[in-house]
Amino acid sequence: MSESYSPGLEGVVAGETAISTVETGLTYRGYAIEDLAEHSTYEEVAYLVLYGELPKAAEMAGFRQRLGAAAVVPAELIETLRRIPKAAPTMDVLRTATSMLAHFEPEAADSSHAANTRKTERLLAKLPVVVAARQRLKSGLEPVAADASLTLPANLLWMLRGQKPSEKGVKAMDASFILYAEHEFNASTFTARCAVSTQSDLHSGITAAIGALKGPLHGGANEAALGVLEEVGSVERAESWVRGALAKKQKIMGFGHRVYKDGDPRAVYLKRLTAAVAAETGHQDFEKMADIIESIVWSEKRIPPNVDWPCARLYHYFGLPKDLYTPLFVVARVVGWSAHIIEQLDNNRIMRPRSIYKGPALRKWKPEGER
Ligand code: SDX
Repeated sequence: MSESYSPGLEGVVAGETAISTVETGLTYRGYAIEDLAEHSTYEEVAYLVLYGELPKAAEMAGFRQRLGAAAVVPAELIETLRRIPKAAPTMDVLRTATSMLAHFEPEAADSSHAANTRKTERLLAKLPVVVAARQRLKSGLEPVAADASLTLPANLLWMLRGQKPSEKGVKAMDASFILYAEHEFNASTFTARCAVSTQSDLHSGITAAIGALKGPLHGGANEAALGVLEEVGSVERAESWVRGALAKKQKIMGFGHRVYKDGDPRAVYLKRLTAAVAAETGHQDFEKMADIIESIVWSEKRIPPNVDWPCARLYHYFGLPKDLYTPLFVVARVVGWSAHIIEQLDNNRIMRPRSIYKGPALRKWKPEGER
């Protein structure tokens, strides 16, 4: 065993995968995300990530039918969502709900490939129901039942608002979910694979991944990125704000990436879509603020935006509350996490890295009076 050490595991290969790669841009099962975001739907991409191939018509119809049928959650969970204090962050509530769903999952203890695939489909369908129900209960409204005829992103908007979403709104949400769906060995995916490498179950792996994604250095960055724009407040203040932040060595949320040093292809794709939605919704000033910040961070630090920078604005333009942005990332990413969990268990070895010891040398115990 060669003992190599890299802080934050930078550059360390921790496993093999056939699900996605960031080596040549970003591809899922060999398909470029630009191709998928342009021509596919989130449900079709979820099928691709989970099963490895784009679905034929009958396969897609069966998948859609199973997702529609599973888009309900136990009354006990709705009661819990009603009782959790309103101030609890939605990411924390989603972590609790995912863990609680295991108690009502008949195959919870079955970690076979087939059972984990069935459980993934059920989680994929149920998490949007949880997010929408919690948001409505927090606002004093009763949950809206899923409409089995709607696709997952459309259903989420329907359950949140009780109004049928526009075609353009669904297309944009679909694109953001496709781009969020999967991303190789990022921190939350690695967390999920590590958790199940002990032969633990899928719900434990997904719950652990939600905990990891919450952090602002990872998935929490989309909420924090909107916070940046809210703090800047106006086009006129953008330049002085960002120069001040960089002078204080502050990390600008929504910028930088461990792997993409020349730019996150998802951010490039979403920028165009976000600008179009801004024009339709009268948010041009927000776009101007973002453009000024982007150009200064690039000129001063050569750091490009990542997926969270445009995605935060897109969700803002849709009038979605900031507290939902990272939960939406969870709803989209649960299929990527699950595919990695299934792949890990198909060819598993428990993960157990080593560490470099920096503590005291060997020493003898002393009674209290001699310490
Ligand atoms: C996601 O890994 C994935 O694939 C994740 C993800 C996925 O789909 O799963 O892509 C999703 O998590 C995207 C990243 C979202 N996070 C943020 O936007 C938070 C802000 N970004 C940074 O915290 C940072 O860029 C990370 C965490 C994304 C990457 O961290 P690294 O690789 O450890 O880089 P680093 O902190 O060592 O920074 C290297 C240099 C430093 O400068 P110096 O100290 O060498 O002078 O770049 C600077 C950093 O200060 N830097 C930044 C910066 N990010 C890095 N400076 C200002 N603002 C930033 N955002």
